[in-house]
Amino acid sequence: MRIVLLGPPGAGKGTQAVRIAEKYAVPHISTGDIFRANVKEGTPLGLKAKEYMTKGLLVPDELVCDLVEDRVSKEDCANGYLLDGFPRTVFQAEHFDAFLKAKGEEIDYVLDIEVAEEQLLPRMIGRRVCRNCGKPYHVDFFPPKVEGVCDVCGGEVYQRDDDREETVKNRFRVYQEQTAPLIEYYTGSGKLAPIDGAKGQDEVFGEICALLG
Ligand code: AP5
Ligand code: MG
Repeated sequence: MRIVLLGPPGAGKGTQAVRIAEKYAVPHISTGDIFRANVKEGTPLGLKAKEYMTKGLLVPDELVCDLVEDRVSKEDCANGYLLDGFPRTVFQAEHFDAFLKAKGEEIDYVLDIEVAEEQLLPRMIGRRVCRNCGKPYHVDFFPPKVEGVCDVCGGEVYQRDDDREETVKNRFRVYQEQTAPLIEYYTGSGKLAPIDGAKGQDEVFGEICALLG
């Protein structure tokens, strides 16, 4: 099962991805998490990506496509995978579709998690994330059992640099301009499924499971 998660910043892609990956036993591939890990390690990719991420801009397509295509070519992706935050531009989607087509493969589901913008800002400003496993929390809605400590792996729970209000607003704008056109790109493919992301996270997960079977 090859799944793409679409949706604006803060829609709950990472939150649902952790649960989907566990239930359907597919690797969770988050380009945002891969870039953050590279930033933390100070790799050449991380140094380049950081320039864009801290401003709320997309990392250039040429740094993203090969990275994902290499990742999904690994052994653990043989039975499928879950892409969280990729593709993010029509160029990335076209590049990836051509890559899959050459292997006789295709995406099975594009889940578009929909949430109105006024609900997203409080979600993002209150978000905290595990630095180790990437599990998202929220200071009000889903705090970890012990403050600052991940329930799952014991890693440090921290606030992302790009979750400051000004940067978040920029990310919304970038989403509208560069990522929202993907909804039209996938319309008509028979793969696109809108998911109501405004509900509680258990209900959202239930809707996704009903669809994936
Ligand atoms: P990325 O890490 O992908 O960030 P994003 O798309 O902005 O999405 P978020 O991670 O902010 O939100 P989410 O939908 O995962 O929400 P979450 O589950 O955490 O990308 C970061 C940066 O990397 C980009 O800006 C770009 O620079 C770069 N990048 C990454 N991929 C790229 C690509 N392909 N091309 C170019 N550049 C790329 O939930 C948010 C909060 O809400 C949490 O606190 C959570 O607890 C809470 N919450 C979740 N569900 C619910 C619910 N149902 N009800 C209430 N609260 C909820
Ligand atoms: Mg995320």
